Amino acid sequence: MSSTTGFAAIPRILHARGRLRVPGDKSISHRYAMLAAIADGTSRLTGYAPGADCAATLACLEALGTEIFRDKDNKGTLTITGRGLGGLRAPGAALDAANSGTSMRLLAGLLAPHPFRTVIGGDASLSRRPMRRVIEPLTRMGAAIAAVDGRPPLTIDGTALRGITHVPEVPSAQVKSAILLAGLHAEGRTTVVEATPTRDHTERALHAFGVPVHRINGAVSVAGGQRLHAIDAAIPGDVSSALFWLVLAAGTPGSDLFIDGVGLNRSRTSVLEVLRRAGAEIELIGDLESSGGESGSHESSGEPMGTIHIRYGEPVPFEITPAEVPGLIDEIPGLAALAAMHPGGRMTVRGASELRVKESDRIAMLARGFGRLGIKVDEYEDGFTIHGGPPEGGEADAAGDHRLAMAFAIAGSRARAGVQITGADAVAVSYPGFFDELDRIARAT
Ligand code: S3P
Repeated sequence: MSSTTGFAAIPRILHARGRLRVPGDKSISHRYAMLAAIADGTSRLTGYAPGADCAATLACLEALGTEIFRDKDNKGTLTITGRGLGGLRAPGAALDAANSGTSMRLLAGLLAPHPFRTVIGGDASLSRRPMRRVIEPLTRMGAAIAAVDGRPPLTIDGTALRGITHVPEVPSAQVKSAILLAGLHAEGRTTVVEATPTRDHTERALHAFGVPVHRINGAVSVAGGQRLHAIDAAIPGDVSSALFWLVLAAGTPGSDLFIDGVGLNRSRTSVLEVLRRAGAEIELIGDLESSGGESGSHESSGEPMGTIHIRYGEPVPFEITPAEVPGLIDEIPGLAALAAMHPGGRMTVRGASELRVKESDRIAMLARGFGRLGIKVDEYEDGFTIHGGPPEGGEADAAGDHRLAMAFAIAGSRARAGVQITGADAVAVSYPGFFDELDRIARAT
């Protein structure tokens, strides 16, 4: 099977057993790179995410004058020499955030206070994504940001900012983070108040780089003007990438799988509860946040990591409520695959219209792709129901969306007949080695 051509034939998998590791966390990688670029001193990161999204962040930071050295050890080792607070330099050309909404939104916050013009664009998918959610609060801080009908490219004319208190309308870690990054450079205090919590990697990363962060109930705030110091940190494996193997094991009889070195930050692991609800047996080993540090556990720069042990359990129907959606936003395609693998599988999610403005319209494209594989899907404006599986077989289009490519592949491994995925090379956005790992698991069964 080859994914480099953008076409992948999915192997049939009898069970998933043994141990594996997944690439470094994408969200943490973006944040460490950006904070390292404005810190004093040289940061050393290992486990930096290998996908195109995080490479786009590095390329943008280099274009802004940051010196980055990539070790060729295949372990994602980087050294980044910081330019100090407010020290980024005007780029010689427009920045390219490629497919990465996180790069674009967080960089908007970082660049709004730098006194030069930056234009930042992206690919066709990113160019459709909404940016008003960051433009509006940054403008209230004093920023000058122009967009095209609220969408990329963004033209940022950097200027002095003042702290604000912002209550986002849509729960979004990207929006929260953009405002906090701007707030580091603003006069006074900047506060984001979240009604529904989102992933807290920015808060933890700021603390690791030496910035006091106040967190009370749903409010998080930073004071402007503080210097950051460089860090040495190991980036944990990405639980959102691990999810695809967890789903494979949860939906494939006889599976018994360990995934090592995964980030177990509580703001990212609610998907494990959903998998348990769906029938899987899950055990965490070395889960620092709940155990206080049993053997095998470790923590790097405030991010806990450990091993997830999963065993197949008879799949049962499950629902995802609107309140759960922000904590599962990247995991919904993978969970849909679980429901599509087994006759007893069924999943309904509502209150998830945010999925329509991700890397693709993830409600429409997911319904279309699973539909092509012979799965019955009901589509709603704000969600969908998957009516169980396994897939008949056929050809599904990833629609340029890495998580859809992986979701179709995992469900496809249980299909009655052959499954092909077009646009499979989209996995390179977050998990370039995904199809190699799938082949390895297939060969081991
Ligand atoms: C991310 C936050 C989420 C998520 C994205 C990464 C981040 O987006 O979907 O893949 O790193 O902050 P929103 O915060 O916009 O929901």
